[in-house]
Amino acid sequence: MEDIEILQDIDWDNLTFSLTPARSMYIAEQRDNNAWEPGKLVPFGNVSMSPAAGVLNYGQGVFEGLKAFRTSRDRIVLFRPENNAVRAIDSAERLCIPPVPKEMFVEALLEVVRDNADYIPPCGKGSLYVRPVIWGTGEVLGVKPVQSYTFLVFVSPVGNYFKSSEKCLHLKITNKFHRAAPRGTGGLKAIGNYAASLLPQKLAKKAGFDEVIYLNAANENFVEELGSANLFILKDQTLVTPSLTGSILPGVTRDSVIQISKEILNLEVQEKTVSVDEVLDADEVFCSGTAVTVTSIGKITTDETFRIISGGKIGPFTRRIGEIFSEIRNETVNDQFKWLYPVF
Ligand code: COI
Repeated sequence: MEDIEILQDIDWDNLTFSLTPARSMYIAEQRDNNAWEPGKLVPFGNVSMSPAAGVLNYGQGVFEGLKAFRTSRDRIVLFRPENNAVRAIDSAERLCIPPVPKEMFVEALLEVVRDNADYIPPCGKGSLYVRPVIWGTGEVLGVKPVQSYTFLVFVSPVGNYFKSSEKCLHLKITNKFHRAAPRGTGGLKAIGNYAASLLPQKLAKKAGFDEVIYLNAANENFVEELGSANLFILKDQTLVTPSLTGSILPGVTRDSVIQISKEILNLEVQEKTVSVDEVLDADEVFCSGTAVTVTSIGKITTDETFRIISGGKIGPFTRRIGEIFSEIRNETVNDQFKWLYPVF
């Protein structure tokens, strides 16, 4: 790899999960229901669109999130980008957005990451968060799909999503709000899903919790996921996570946790309905996602009870899973699953 200089004016030791504008972003257009036009890099900055744009009025937009890393072998890699490309196609189809072909999607990611490689933190200090969005930018008044779309990819160096990597979250299981309805859009990265999670999150934070765990809208005995991550429990050496019934996001990190647990840690993994009682009785509870990676959950509150899990500390399994993730991403162990996609 040619030497990519690391920018010196970013405080790599104190990165948070917030936007640090990078040099460039990728933009491509699809006009009047024709094919996607070739995209290009432009300076990172504001975009303009009609106030009648479909994305602004009816939320006709989807997004993705993935990360690029600088590894200990001095390579720059993306983590499983093809999975995001495929999920973006699924999300787009559900919202009547013309899907971005997989090859074009991945090529766009590579172009942006290459052009902003000096914004990727040193190995072990964080990552370059890559945010592809696909928006309905054509004009509309009645509720219907628009005729023109924009595919844009921007990036930002980021650190931990929650304040400290050692943090054990305190979550509230909420029955006041649902995240997703059966046969709705919960299993997709529709932007509206996240807008709807803002009030529950705000109220939870105000009450001293870090995030909420949502219940299954059809049967409130069962849990689904957090607003920003999937949920796992460990009980008697079995890893359990809610099955993908359509209202749960098929997380790339979720899938990676399952594979690591089965193939490296030789654990039994069950994807099934998971009851509130199972969560409260678990040996360890944690959440997974691109942004949160693997984060431990040490305290859980419901309307009726409060429970400390694993002594309120990061459990040994959760810690080990997190370590294996870092080792694979940093290339300090062999990438046996072929998850790393070389950028340089
Ligand atoms: C991610 O983990 O990348 C997400 O998309 C969750 C959140 C930051 C919206």
